[in-house]
Amino acid sequence: MSIKRPKKGQQKCCTTILLAFFKSVRTPKLARPTPDFYVGSVVPSEDLRFRDAFIEELWESIASHHLILKAPRRCGKTSVMEHLRASPQHGYSVIYENVQDLVHPADLFLAILDNFRDQHPGLFHTLVKGWQTVTSWLPKVEEIECGEVKTKFRENVKDYREHWREHGDALFRQLRSLKRPVLIIVDELPDMLLNLRQEDPKLLRDFLSWFRDKRCDPLPKNDTVRWLLGGSINLSSTLDGMSLLDRINDLKDMPLPDLTPHQIETFVNEMLTARHVEFEKKLPERLRELLGRPIPLFLQMLTQDLYRSWRNRPRKLRKADVEAEFSRFVTSTAAQDKLQHYYTRLAKYYEEPALSQAHEILNHLCQTAEKDGRDEGASRATLMHLVEGTCPSGRLPAAHERKRLFLQLMRDLENDFYITETTPGRYGFASGIMKAWWRKHYA
Ligand SMILES: Nc1ncnc2c1ncn2[C@@H]1O[C@H](COP(=O)(O)OP(=O)(O)OP(=O)(O)O)[C@@H](O)[C@H]1O
Ligand SMILES: [Mg+2]
Repeated sequence: MSIKRPKKGQQKCCTTILLAFFKSVRTPKLARPTPDFYVGSVVPSEDLRFRDAFIEELWESIASHHLILKAPRRCGKTSVMEHLRASPQHGYSVIYENVQDLVHPADLFLAILDNFRDQHPGLFHTLVKGWQTVTSWLPKVEEIECGEVKTKFRENVKDYREHWREHGDALFRQLRSLKRPVLIIVDELPDMLLNLRQEDPKLLRDFLSWFRDKRCDPLPKNDTVRWLLGGSINLSSTLDGMSLLDRINDLKDMPLPDLTPHQIETFVNEMLTARHVEFEKKLPERLRELLGRPIPLFLQMLTQDLYRSWRNRPRKLRKADVEAEFSRFVTSTAAQDKLQHYYTRLAKYYEEPALSQAHEILNHLCQTAEKDGRDEGASRATLMHLVEGTCPSGRLPAAHERKRLFLQLMRDLENDFYITETTPGRYGFASGIMKAWWRKHYA
């Protein structure tokens, strides 16, 4: 007997709903609850902090645009999407799906349909009204189990992949015929597009063109359907390399802002104070310095580690305790689990010679010195010299071409969130934890 496992996106959604339920049972309504640590799971909307202004901005932009939400891994994209889903504004019905493992456009449509049924069962019948391909086999909605629309569609419409355009056209038509605002959130779309590229590059081209045409006719301001696409992989350089960048140029870029220094210190202060931990005033600042670019997951993990260390041995925590926890964290299996993908994904998305050159740059940058709590980094000229050293002698491209390729590589590493321009012309690792981890394992 096969066991039906929910997909990653569904799993996250169900987990979030359950968490929210148990929390509401545990916590008396009027008491101010001690905020939980979230170390990897989606942050439920009632516990999501520092994102109010950005979420407001998203809702404003949704009024007239389709959007693309960009941020590095583990920065809080799905948590923001979950907030849009759980607390919709302006009368929107919101559908969320994670499409990371999908390899065909038809499966995207089925995922949307399936999630519509699970997330808005009351509206589902109106959605499929008059859609013969579905109504011919659909029993009463109440008789379908969670996640079953997709499997039933596949069983009943055998060649559903071959006719993906027809099904996609029909889905758009039905969504529009609802005549009410619908926001469709597609998480990890870049992964799905890369899967498509691997399986069938022509299908990727056809799908991107079709999807753009559908989104843009009618223009968003005259349409009831909105798309919010998201993911942690930088799609632009991949599509640029295939001359397909124009297929996503209608989307408004919405980069998720980094947490500010003040927000990071507030987080550390509040999480420790709420647990009655005594600590030196300078401690949050030192933790912020060590983090470098603040990846929120690492902020949560490190603060939780500090709290646990205090719980095991209550004392006034000092800067030295943060430094000790930081070093311990970098060598821990928890960090290994969270950081390893940054290493392996280079080989997946960078082709030679860029791959070896990227390693050369990162191996150099992970060793640069720190002065007054700041990474000194390396100059552009030093890094270019390093990169040129990787070219076999006698096969160096012309100077202008070398420069173009080098700048392209630096842009890719910046867009993929490995490095950052610390001061004009100087570069360093974007995250302090990643830098220390890289030095430990790969330098
Ligand atoms: N506003 C926030 N404040 C504090 N921590 C946060 C916040 N948002 C996210 N996090 C932390 O980041 C972790 C990852 O959140 P989330 O899954 O939303 O990120 P993501 O960008 O979607 O990650 P991935 O790239 O893996 O899909 C959470 O478990 C939590 O530790
Ligand atoms: Mg996510």
